[in-house]
Amino acid sequence: MRVVVVGGTGNISLGVVKALLEFGHEVTVYNRGTTDLRGEGLADEALPHGVRVLRGDRNDRAAFEATMRGERFDAAVDMICFDAADAESDLRAFPEVEHFVNISSVATLGGEPAELPMAAASPRRPGDAYALGKAAADEVFAAAHARGELPLTVFMPAQTWGRQPRILRQLGFESTWIDRIRRGLPILVAHDGQLIWSHCHADDAGVGIAAAVGRPGCVGQTYIITRFELATWRDYHEQIASAVGRPAVFVDAPADLLIGAWPEGTGLLARESRWNRIYDLSPIRRDIPEFQPKIALAEAAPEMIRRLDARGLIPDARSDPAEDRIIASLDRLGKELAPEAPVA
Ligand SMILES: NC(=O)c1ccc[n+]([C@@H]2O[C@H](COP(=O)([O-])OP(=O)(O)OC[C@H]3O[C@@H](n4cnc5c(N)ncnc54)[C@H](OP(=O)(O)O)[C@@H]3O)[C@@H](O)[C@H]2O)c1
Repeated sequence: MRVVVVGGTGNISLGVVKALLEFGHEVTVYNRGTTDLRGEGLADEALPHGVRVLRGDRNDRAAFEATMRGERFDAAVDMICFDAADAESDLRAFPEVEHFVNISSVATLGGEPAELPMAAASPRRPGDAYALGKAAADEVFAAAHARGELPLTVFMPAQTWGRQPRILRQLGFESTWIDRIRRGLPILVAHDGQLIWSHCHADDAGVGIAAAVGRPGCVGQTYIITRFELATWRDYHEQIASAVGRPAVFVDAPADLLIGAWPEGTGLLARESRWNRIYDLSPIRRDIPEFQPKIALAEAAPEMIRRLDARGLIPDARSDPAEDRIIASLDRLGKELAPEAPVA
C-alpha cells in the first residue's frame, strides 16, 4: 500500500516506518524536518532509504490538508494527533483512505484503574491536558467511524522507549535518577517498587502498528500495545541500573508522602504509577500475531544512556538536592502520615 505516516522520524514513528518498509509498503513521511536522529546521537538511525519525505507542519492546517489531499495514499498513520482539532484536520486531509490508524495513549484510561486488567474498552477517565486531548481526538475519530466515514484502527501505547530524550522512573519524568545510581545514591520508590508497570521498545511497538496497516480485521478495533511480560518498577529501575553498571539502592516511602513532599518530582506517581498498570493484550495477540515484543529494557538501556550522555541530558544529581532532602526527612514525614494502603 501507499502509506503516509504523519510524523515518521521520532521515537515510535521510526519503528513504524522501518516495519512498514519491511512489510513491503511504499512509505511517505510528513514532518517539519526538525528531528535529526543523527544529530541526536542515533548515528545509525537516519530515515531508511526508499522513504519519501514531505515537509510541513501539521499545525498549518490548510497547507497540511491540501498537501495530503493532493497525494494518493491508500493508508494513513497519524503518530502525532493530540487533540480534537488535529483529528478533525485528519478527517479533512484523508477523506478517502482505505485505512486510517491513530496513535492514542493508555493515558486516556486515567490514573486509578477502573478495572484490572485495563482494557481498550475500559472507562476513559483522562486526568490531565495531554490525556484529555488524546481522548477528545479518539472521540472525533470514533464518531467518523460510526458514521461509516473512516476505516479506523486505534493503538493505545503504554510507555514506549528507545529514542526519547529522557528515561522516566516510577516517580516522574526527570533523568537525574540515573546519575544518582551512577554515584551510588539511593532512589526513592513507592510501594517498595512492587507495582506493575507496562512498557515496550519503540521498534517492537512499530512492528505491531505497521502489521495492522491494510488488515481488514483490524478496522474498527482499538489495541493497547505494550510488552506481554509483567514487570515491577523494581525490575525497571534495576534494568537501567545494570546498564549504568552500579546496583540500584532503593528507599521506600508511601506514595502520598512523596507526592505531598515533592510535587515537582512525582508527576508520574501522582498520575499513573502509584497503581498497578496491567493491560488486556488479548485483542492484539488475537489480531496481530506479528507483534512479538522481544527487546528488553536492559538490552536497549546502554544505548539509550549513551545517547542521553552525549547530549548532556542526564542532569548532575548534585545540582538537585531534593531527593536527598526527602530521604533525610522521611522519618519525620512518615510520622505525619498513616501507612500506605495495599493496592489491588
Ligand atoms: N512514547 C510513549 O511513551 C507514548 C506512550 C503513549 C502514547 N504515545 C503516543 O505515541 C505517539 C508517538 O509518540 P512519540 O513520542 O514516539 O513521537 P514520535 O513518533 O517520535 O513523533 C514525533 C514525529 O512527529 C514529527 N512532528 C512533531 N511535530 C510535528 C508537526 N507539528 N508537524 C509535522 N510533524 C511533526 C517529528 O518530526 P519533526 O520534529 O521533524 O517535525 C517526528 O517525526 C504520540 O501520539 C504519543 O501521544 C507515546
